[in-house]
Amino acid sequence: MKSVITGSGIGVPKNVVRNEALTRLMDTTEEWIRTRSGIEERRYADPGQGSAELGSIAAEAALADARRSKKEIDAVIFATMTPNFYFPGNGPVLQAKMGFPETIPTFDIRQQCSGFLYGLDLADSLIQSGKYRRLLLIGADVHTPFMPWEMGWESTIGGTARELTPEEYAFNTSIRDRTVLFGDGAGAVVVESSEDGDRGFIAAKLFTDGSNIEALYVPGVGFRRRPYVDKEQVERAEPIPVMEGREVFKQAVSRMPESVRAVCAAAGVNVTDIDLLMVHQANLRIVEGVGKALALPSEKVPHNIERYGNTTAGTLPILYHECVRDGRIKPGMLICFTALGSGLHWGAALYRT
Ligand SMILES: CC(C)(COP(=O)(O)OP(=O)(O)OC[C@H]1O[C@@H](n2cnc3c(N)ncnc32)[C@H](O)[C@@H]1OP(=O)(O)O)[C@@H](O)C(=O)NCCC(=O)NCCS
Repeated sequence: MKSVITGSGIGVPKNVVRNEALTRLMDTTEEWIRTRSGIEERRYADPGQGSAELGSIAAEAALADARRSKKEIDAVIFATMTPNFYFPGNGPVLQAKMGFPETIPTFDIRQQCSGFLYGLDLADSLIQSGKYRRLLLIGADVHTPFMPWEMGWESTIGGTARELTPEEYAFNTSIRDRTVLFGDGAGAVVVESSEDGDRGFIAAKLFTDGSNIEALYVPGVGFRRRPYVDKEQVERAEPIPVMEGREVFKQAVSRMPESVRAVCAAAGVNVTDIDLLMVHQANLRIVEGVGKALALPSEKVPHNIERYGNTTAGTLPILYHECVRDGRIKPGMLICFTALGSGLHWGAALYRT
């Protein structure tokens, strides 16, 4: 018995924000963003549109694609690091929004940029256990709530542009290494048990190393603090993520290839047998670096970061969906998903279409 993806869908906001729009807010250039990250544009959610809203759009589309009704789903897994509420997670928000029967349990997982990858392995494990036959897996994140909207960001989504004060411009510039990289988006898949030959999930290798959490984390708003959030933390901008870009880059281009080799070894296949390597979209140079480290030709390593930026748990399901839609994913292919993100969590999973 195998776990098979029978449908996919995406939920991306309508607001397309090109690099040029960000150059009006901070000391950056279109060229810097494009050449250092590969990103040309990203999507920003409307006010009131959170990861649960985008996830619901993706989930409805995935269900329609799989031709499944809500009643036919046995459980939901929602991967996000940016839920609508601190608690509960997005599972119950999605349940109420979409009208899932209360008999369908919802699991909330995080794992940041590796959220969808971890969710895939969890979905497969739950199916293999025999407990559930059909799961809905959503990966969704919104990064715009991390942005300092009081510093003139409304202009990016159609609000009036205004002259920024030197202090506002300086503050936006102080976080430019992060804000230019991220966008909002969601993807979802339906995963079902199947006896359809070789098709389906083959193996996963997942890893965690918490020895350098500070490489990518949110320093404020945590439950070691009393109170967990206060005015001073906000003034010190501690709810904004901190990232050691070069360190994360280095980890990404070594850990992802290692995990791809590990999962291929576990499954008894060669890396060269991979038809399509779906790499978490954090930086085009990382995506290309991972492909190069594995000696895979560029046509086997698709990317869409130029249009979405990094949508964290959303990148892999959005990329998967687009590759199915444009025919790059064909029946019988060996696909490998790989991701790395805050934690650090990383890994790879093999899947036969
Ligand atoms: C963040 C990242 C794009 C920076 O690229 P880089 O080539 O490593 O750039 P560096 O950090 O060496 O910075 C080079 C210069 O660009 C500047 N810079 C940073 N962001 C900038 C921006 N948006 N616009 C213009 N200049 C910028 C830096 O201040 C630095 O200036 P300095 O040399 O005067 O100090 C890159 O390190 C990266 O993508 N890291 C991984 C991030 C990631 O994947 N995060 C999510 C993980 S899931």
